[in-house]
Amino acid sequence: MEKLLINGGASLSGTITCSGAKNAALPMIAATILSNENIVLKNLPYLQDITTMFELLGSMGAEIVLNENMDFTIKSNDLKEKEARYELVKTMRASILVLGPLVAKYGKAKIALPGGCAIGSRPVNYHLDALEQLGASITLRNGYIEASADRLIGTKIKFDGITVTGTENIMMAACLAEGTSVLTNVAKEPEIIDLADLLNKMGAKVNGAGSDEITIEGVKELHGCEFSIPSDRIEAGTYLVAAVVTGGEITINEINPQRLNKVLDKLKETGAKIILTKNSISLSMEKKKPKPVDITTAPFPEFPTDMQAQFSVINAISDGVSNIYETVFENRFMHVQELNRMGCDIQINGNQAIIKGVDSLYGAEVMATDLRASASLILAGLCAEGQTKVDRIYHIDRGYERIEEKLNYLGANIVRLPS
Ligand code: EPU
Repeated sequence: MEKLLINGGASLSGTITCSGAKNAALPMIAATILSNENIVLKNLPYLQDITTMFELLGSMGAEIVLNENMDFTIKSNDLKEKEARYELVKTMRASILVLGPLVAKYGKAKIALPGGCAIGSRPVNYHLDALEQLGASITLRNGYIEASADRLIGTKIKFDGITVTGTENIMMAACLAEGTSVLTNVAKEPEIIDLADLLNKMGAKVNGAGSDEITIEGVKELHGCEFSIPSDRIEAGTYLVAAVVTGGEITINEINPQRLNKVLDKLKETGAKIILTKNSISLSMEKKKPKPVDITTAPFPEFPTDMQAQFSVINAISDGVSNIYETVFENRFMHVQELNRMGCDIQINGNQAIIKGVDSLYGAEVMATDLRASASLILAGLCAEGQTKVDRIYHIDRGYERIEEKLNYLGANIVRLPS
């Protein structure tokens, strides 16, 4: 297995651009199933999860062509298989995103039931309840979800809990339903707005994405279009934290700062100076030690759970004590044991992490457990004394494109060790 070897101590500086957002791209690839024509997706990130999603669509019979500009043309209009097999679903839970589009377009779908994962049990009951309300019959058999419907019928649906991929699944399904659907208690993440933008470009009638209520007027068919994936807000947030923990100074281009409002507020509380334009963020830490910040994760527009592990590192080297409450996933503190091996002083009490800032961290051999946990280990390695070796970095390659190249470009010293 490949590893990353980090020589800590460098202060990061420079300007970078983030890749297309993974969590916007995944539902968009699934949405191509709804179209009768080719969809061209631009600025897709080169990531393992994207490859897995393509593998899934390919296994169902979609044609995927990459041109010289790295744009993907996806033709999913005549799928022979309507099944997501366990081999693929177990490697990527977001495979569940093909459920809504398959039932809406083909009237049936068979999707392996995703199991739990490192960060929590992550059931899909909200997706299934809402799809049933649109008129689908759903049976759980032999570890698979089997769903069928003649044509879905638009209706009013109030989600029992806020779910990002659940909202996306049902938005996509409702686009081809008969009549109007009104979805409430929906997720408001920027990726929901991005998906609505793509669907509307395909001819759908989706209104209200980004608010508490999304209205979707069903249409008979959707057509082709070109769409460019916006930059990844969590990747941007991660590089901003890298600048904070190394006392550095960086600018991120082509990012809408409004997508990071809560994260930027918390970064300011650490003592970072931040300058925003409409589409860039500059952060300067002037070699200062960060101040501790208390954080409670919650659905957008609150502080994202996907930035929680990274902020643990800021707090771990801050000049005080702080509390982090994780309210979205029940088991998202897997990074803590590894960070403590690097000299952090973090105690877990249920969904609370109590973090006492220490003077400095030291390098160690550590193991990544999930995507954002791996990011936090790399961040800790950047500010630690000596060498840190991060194992199981396949987790990081699922969600960060060429992370060591981008960080090295900013002045870090990271080497990818072959397996
Ligand atoms: N939940 C249920 N039932 C459901 C669906 C969700 O109980 O049917 C619970 C989950 O167990 C969790 C909470 O609701 O406790 C929120 O889960 P959500 O469904 O919103 O998460 P998701 O859609 O599976 C997406 C991102 C995650 C991100 C979360 C929260 C994608 C592909 N994944 O997951 O991204 O953490 O929303 O913002 O969009 C990551 O990129 O590292 C990542 C894990």
